[in-house]
Amino acid sequence: MKALHFINIILFSLLSSTAFSQNTLIPAPVQYQSNNEIFMFDSKVKIDLRSNNPELIQIAKLFTSSISSNNINFEFKKVENPNPQEKSLLIDLNKVANTEIGDEGYELEVRENQIKLLANKPAGIFYGIQTLKQMLPAEMESKKDNAVPFAMLMGCKIKDYPRFGWRGLMLDVSRHFFTIAEVKSYIELMSIYKFNVLHWHLTDDEGWRIEIKSMPKLSEIGGFRVKRHGRFGEDRTAPKEGEKATEGGFYTQEEIKDLVKFASERSIKVIPEIDVPGHSMALLAAYPELSTKKEPKYVNPGAKFAEWFGNGQFKMLIENTINPSDEKVYQALDKIFTEVAQIFPAQYIHVGGDEAYHGYWEQDPGCQAYMKKNNLKNTHELQSYFMKRVEKIISSKGKKMIGWDEILEGGLAEGAAVMSWRGMKGGIEAAKQKHEVVMSPTTYGYIDFTQGDPSIENKIYASLSLKTAYEFEPIPEGVEPKYILGGQANLWTELVPTIRHAFYMTYPRAFATAESVWSPKESKNWESFVNRTENHFRRFDVMEQSISKAIFDPIIKVSKQGEVHKVELRSDIPNTEIYYTIDNTFPDKFSTKYTTPIELPAGDYTLKTINIRNG
Ligand code: ACM
Repeated sequence: MKALHFINIILFSLLSSTAFSQNTLIPAPVQYQSNNEIFMFDSKVKIDLRSNNPELIQIAKLFTSSISSNNINFEFKKVENPNPQEKSLLIDLNKVANTEIGDEGYELEVRENQIKLLANKPAGIFYGIQTLKQMLPAEMESKKDNAVPFAMLMGCKIKDYPRFGWRGLMLDVSRHFFTIAEVKSYIELMSIYKFNVLHWHLTDDEGWRIEIKSMPKLSEIGGFRVKRHGRFGEDRTAPKEGEKATEGGFYTQEEIKDLVKFASERSIKVIPEIDVPGHSMALLAAYPELSTKKEPKYVNPGAKFAEWFGNGQFKMLIENTINPSDEKVYQALDKIFTEVAQIFPAQYIHVGGDEAYHGYWEQDPGCQAYMKKNNLKNTHELQSYFMKRVEKIISSKGKKMIGWDEILEGGLAEGAAVMSWRGMKGGIEAAKQKHEVVMSPTTYGYIDFTQGDPSIENKIYASLSLKTAYEFEPIPEGVEPKYILGGQANLWTELVPTIRHAFYMTYPRAFATAESVWSPKESKNWESFVNRTENHFRRFDVMEQSISKAIFDPIIKVSKQGEVHKVELRSDIPNTEIYYTIDNTFPDKFSTKYTTPIELPAGDYTLKTINIRNG
């Protein structure tokens, strides 16, 4: 028996290179100390749950079911009389709160006979479990028959807690609709990396995704558009006369409540966004009377309807703003936010406020008269007036308003929180005005931008490498940290038609965001992060989940000097060597090694490069 056991151990070590994956945690914990003990984790491990807290029982059940597969059953059994001789996973809430770790922190100790997980609150236990899951080989989470039956956990002692209380990802479900099951899968993966906010962008020009019972046309009409192929925002055509809108969908309130519960069981709050006064073409398709011109509208199928002039200047060729001078607009918003507030238990409601085109307000006699009457000097003040009224509606429902940084223009509503996206400056300004801020700047957090070489990615107007995403520091110099709630990355989905592509765009850059908002600033380390990311690539492979491995690609910069093209190659990751060919063969490590910029000779060939890491 002993020999068999020994063979099993060797076999397992061969089977899974992640058996010793304790140092591959993402986000990196605050403190990690190893000891010389080994805990053999298998289905005999008992869960010694010392609390009857129902949230804890739910967390323990989620854990055991996540590592059970067709052939291995990790049954959740509450131990009534713990036997110190039996291997166990002890989970308990601190009787006296440990103030150092707060509401979301935990302490996890792995010894030969026991894993001990303590926290002040269930959220901390949830995060401790996520850490434990990352220590187990990814194969354990596989539902297939060949899932590995046991793992050796290297002994350690971890103390861990987050740097920020807002650790978010934003998912746009308007530009492309994702089913509830797909959004749940997005939430599931977020929770593994200790995110705690899903900012759900539910409305935009291309679709209204939430059922509002008192205004049913919003989802019945606003939820659907005509089907188009081709590049979004470029050559797609507007609907033809009488053409049926068949593409899209919306979530019923019951579905949303179920999703909110699912997220809450994974320590994630869902913050809904209803984007007004701009980005409202789908709303206006349902209720055109809420615009200034009151013309019939359609839900945009991804046709181009804006001109962008750079420097944040733009013109909307179709009116997609609601009319701030019409009392009916505020009555409609009151109805919408009444229902939104009832469905979403989170403290904040996001009201958008971004990229509202003022051209139609400027031309509208009603808006002009309204501005005069209310002593508003320009349309920025008109938008500010609108946002302040929206804030009153939101606070009358017992919620706090958060909006994109444009809500600063013309004067910020009292009590409003600001989400800084056009760089950090909006956030800095809001914090100076003593408002709460979430940092999600394009510079570090726009994960709709390409991450690899634009020649092979689904091209968009900017790019954001993993390395740059990792440089995200949510607290700028000179700002009082207490106003910075945290940070997030945003996935706009104009060019993201499937949930698999959503994962490809989100990961690994969301690892960088996760570490920037969870781990201590001083412990961030790019080289260590790359090593850990590489390990998580393997986890994604086992999960058959999509993730971008663009960091392995050489970064190519081409310039022209006279008639000669000069090419510079580099890599963002350490321990790499780049090789290339210019004879149309595929390069390997015996090809020409890149050392200095290449001057390309004239000829008919493709430059091919390869980046080799650690040999
Ligand atoms: C935004 O990207 N328009 C907030």
